[in-house]
Amino acid sequence: GSVQDLAGRTVVVSAGGTREPIDPVRFIGNRSSGRQGVALAQAALARGATVTLVAANLAQDVTDQVEAGPGRAACTVVRVESTAELREAVRTAGADADVVVMAAAVADFRPAATPDAKIKKVPGQGPAPIELVENPDILAEIAHERLRPGQVVVGFAAETGDASGSVLDHGRTKARRKGADLIAVNAVGSGRGFGTDANDVTVLDGAGDVVGQAAGSKREVADALWDAVVKRLP
Ligand code: C5P
Repeated sequence: GSVQDLAGRTVVVSAGGTREPIDPVRFIGNRSSGRQGVALAQAALARGATVTLVAANLAQDVTDQVEAGPGRAACTVVRVESTAELREAVRTAGADADVVVMAAAVADFRPAATPDAKIKKVPGQGPAPIELVENPDILAEIAHERLRPGQVVVGFAAETGDASGSVLDHGRTKARRKGADLIAVNAVGSGRGFGTDANDVTVLDGAGDVVGQAAGSKREVADALWDAVVKRLP
């Protein structure tokens, strides 16, 4: 067994990706499988924590893994679809949590209106534009409010390097802007990140300084992140 360094601690982990409804049958979604979030929940359970997994549209094999998984007694799974539902579930469970980890890929924007009826294709008419509005940034909100004193708040940042800066530069800017205690920055693309079992992350603190590094399976990355969290728990 692992070190029980999260024994007596309550943690919330969001996993997967949100779906923003366009109408009753369509949505705007993303390719997050939920693997990293589920690995975080499993690692926390192994280290003795009581876990709430807020699961947004996990890939089928990841759902199967959650349902078959060990330590289920100590794990509550709350299923959500949209960002609004995810926000509600994370805030409710987060109210008495020692740690909140936002591993879910949350949509930045959602359709402004959600009609009750399916949007129809009208012959001879072009597509109607979909107006988008900004979603609340759940991580930034929780980091700035602190639902509970001493709570450790952790986020993820999937970045690509570009002309305006490297993966780490973008991660640093995000760490400062979000106000979280820790941000796990990962380079996405070229077989890493989304949908794979391997991940490669650099852990930054709120000031953007490097406090950890992990490459390997999502479970190994999860354990490295919990190591950094444990050091920050009061
Ligand atoms: O800004 P960006 O989406 O890259 O930030 C990623 C981090 O912020 C992740 O931890 C994600 O769960 C969180 N996030 C959030 N609410 C949003 C967008 C992102 O909590 N609306």
